[in-house]
Amino acid sequence: MTSHYLPGFANHVSTEAVPGALPIGRNSPQKVPFGLYAEQLSGTAFTVPRAENRRSWLYRMRPTANHAPFARYEGAKLLRSGPFDEVPPSPNRLRWDPLPIPSEPTDFVDGLFTYGGNGDVASGDGCGIHLYAANRSMRDRVFFSADGEMLILPQQGNLRIVTEMGVLDLPPRHVALIPRGVRFRVEVDGPSRGYVCENYGHLFRLPDLGPIGANGLANPRDFETSVAWFEDRDEPTEVIQKFQGRLWTTTLDHSPLDVVAWHGNLAPCRYDLARFNTINTVSFDHPDPSIFTVLTSPSDTPGTANVDFVIFPPRWMVAEGTFRPPWFHRNVMSEYMGLIEGAYDAKEGGFAPGGGSLHNQMNGHGPDVASYEKAVDADLKPHKIENTMAFMFESRRVIRPTRWASETPLLQSDYDEAWSGFEKARLPR
Ligand SMILES: [Fe+2]
Repeated sequence: MTSHYLPGFANHVSTEAVPGALPIGRNSPQKVPFGLYAEQLSGTAFTVPRAENRRSWLYRMRPTANHAPFARYEGAKLLRSGPFDEVPPSPNRLRWDPLPIPSEPTDFVDGLFTYGGNGDVASGDGCGIHLYAANRSMRDRVFFSADGEMLILPQQGNLRIVTEMGVLDLPPRHVALIPRGVRFRVEVDGPSRGYVCENYGHLFRLPDLGPIGANGLANPRDFETSVAWFEDRDEPTEVIQKFQGRLWTTTLDHSPLDVVAWHGNLAPCRYDLARFNTINTVSFDHPDPSIFTVLTSPSDTPGTANVDFVIFPPRWMVAEGTFRPPWFHRNVMSEYMGLIEGAYDAKEGGFAPGGGSLHNQMNGHGPDVASYEKAVDADLKPHKIENTMAFMFESRRVIRPTRWASETPLLQSDYDEAWSGFEKARLPR
């Protein structure tokens, strides 16, 4: 089975898997071709300004409304949702070893572990931060979140995300964005691990570029949108939904991945992080990491993100007379970091691919002693940082860890030692 992609982030796309399935000229004609059912999927309120309006029309074999009541789902026991109030948030800097691959057969849904988050699904702001560890494809079941869109970042193992609106092949160093409400199943090709940001707030969008101009960072054309794909399968299929923080299940007598054609500007897409046009200083100083923003979910306060998705890709370092790694800082924003591959330039060890760290509001952090000493003594020639891909989910609100994340043995008890042993500055006497 082949899948194809259309270029562009949130483009207005028309796509059909069967020639003639897509109505022309009307969104909901009296009779849809082949007896398909027209259904609108709205990602924004009907009345938001046109430039921000996101919706698609789906033409499917059966309407989504055709289902039995949902009942509580008892799996995915470590998936949590806002408000994150299980334990008081610690002011300490936190770092976790990589999430182990499960020993029991576990699929994407049951393999979700929530590390923390902020905001509230009920009020529609904030985000949840999850890792998944899976070794089995989802079979005869699909998942969707009514609480937010899902940004999925594989770290180990290739994913094939089969959605109502098409198929996304997703190897590591790629990211997928699945709109709120879109049903999907995740197929794996072996032990698989990765990160998920579930965004309860305004939809992710490309950041404004200001004086950078019309090009740069993540270019819109490099996002790849799925095209119509469907399965005509009359077998029992479980639908698990996340609604207001809890999971619910029902079973259909068919696969709901039966959308034969669709058009609109709300659709799953993927992005190859290698296509990020990294921009950095060519003179001196270390720019704020906002220069590495791939996607941003704005809040209602201008310039203050609900959550930003930021990457630290391979790049040249050329700054003169400058401390080149990330500097020491305290931030009003809160930072969860993960590592897809390689090493991160502010840490010499302890931050491993598949692990994570959390530096919350006003937590002092920055390079560890070894990285600091190396950087201040470095002979500053142009230098390329290679074989690395770190990322950050940065949010206006404190990221509140779950009980599991606060108590798991994966939490490194010695993380503070990364910043012990700095020599006192020597003032002139
Ligand atoms: Fe930071």
